[in-house]
Amino acid sequence: MRAGVVRILFFAVSATFTLCAASWGQMTKAQEKQEMGTESHIGKLTGHARAGEPHYRRFCVGCHGVLGDGEGDNAMWIDPKPRNFTLGIFKCRSTPTGTLPTDEDLFNTIGRGLINSNMPQWRPLTDQDRADLVSYVKHFSPRFASEKPGPPIQIPPKPEVTAERIKAGQEVFKRVECWKCHGVEGRGNGPSADTLKDDQDRPIKAFNFHDTERFKCGTTDEDLYKIFMTGLDGTPMPSFMDNLKSEDAWNLTFYMRTLQPMHSKAKEIAGQLGLKPIRPNQPAAQPEAPNQPAAQPETPNQPPAQPETK
Ligand code: HEC
Ligand code: HEC
Repeated sequence: MRAGVVRILFFAVSATFTLCAASWGQMTKAQEKQEMGTESHIGKLTGHARAGEPHYRRFCVGCHGVLGDGEGDNAMWIDPKPRNFTLGIFKCRSTPTGTLPTDEDLFNTIGRGLINSNMPQWRPLTDQDRADLVSYVKHFSPRFASEKPGPPIQIPPKPEVTAERIKAGQEVFKRVECWKCHGVEGRGNGPSADTLKDDQDRPIKAFNFHDTERFKCGTTDEDLYKIFMTGLDGTPMPSFMDNLKSEDAWNLTFYMRTLQPMHSKAKEIAGQLGLKPIRPNQPAAQPEAPNQPAAQPETPNQPPAQPETK
């Protein structure tokens, strides 16, 4: 009798569980079958989710989880947390904020890995393997079935770096307030730095430019340009596409380079200029007006407004 009740209970519980699993259900069987047909196209390569699955199970599952939700067995030890692929939100894109990355973006990310995180480089895998993995990563999110990637942003040819451009770039850095998060010297210690959270409410650090020459999303000047124009979706790092013309964006790129540890022409010029860190509380063009109460819109000693997370 007792055993019977227990058995019935057990049955009821497991049935409920199965039902729930199907309805929250990461995916129903039919959906799953369809999603397993997900393809990716990178140059001449075509990737197939089905072919990516064994690689995913072998190399990725420990962090990103069987369901692609970022809850792999190792996830609890890792900070920042592995990406939850079911959301379809990615940091490294060539596409505008809010849109899906291209297949090539994901392919490059998987090859490059993400510095300042536990996400390794996967260069030892063949290009075909990585293309298959792109498809498998995409198959976890319904977004890829219903939306197209955004149009990749246009990057005009890089101009010659000059002292004028670096100085202009520093003004941009000040004007659009990169320093609020990244700090006046780009050390990741701006006035808002301690308050930053990602979209899943987890604390996140602003990037310290003095630490490294690489970024999560690339290494070249073009990559740097792309990073602040597209933003890193899912993080407080916003897109500046609506605030910056391409001239400004290139000038800012050159200025950011002067903050990094490696030798570069930009850094050399900054040295010759004796460039000092910005002083955000000093209105740019205004001559010193000593004893006057500052009634400007930019009130210097006020705690900076909470940055808009995007
Ligand atoms: C040791 C843990 C670990 C393993 C193994 C791992 N990843 Fe990751 N992955 C991460 C972490 C952590 C992040 C998030 C890093 C961040 O947000 O800075 C991430 C992020 C990603 C992203 C998102 C990039 C973006 O632009 O937002 C992709 C795509 C990805 N991983 C693919 C893979 C694939 C494919 C594999 C297997 C070949 C894999 N990962 C294996 C830890 C791992
Ligand atoms: C609201 C805060 C905030 C502002 C304003 C901000 N950033 Fe960021 N930025 C961040 C955070 C947080 C990260 C780290 C994201 C991560 O690790 O995933 C970041 C990362 C970066 C990175 C490294 C990206 C990578 O791929 O590793 C660059 C480059 C960058 N920011 C440039 C800028 C520039 C240039 C500006 C101004 C035009 C700016 N940021 C303004 C918060 C901000």
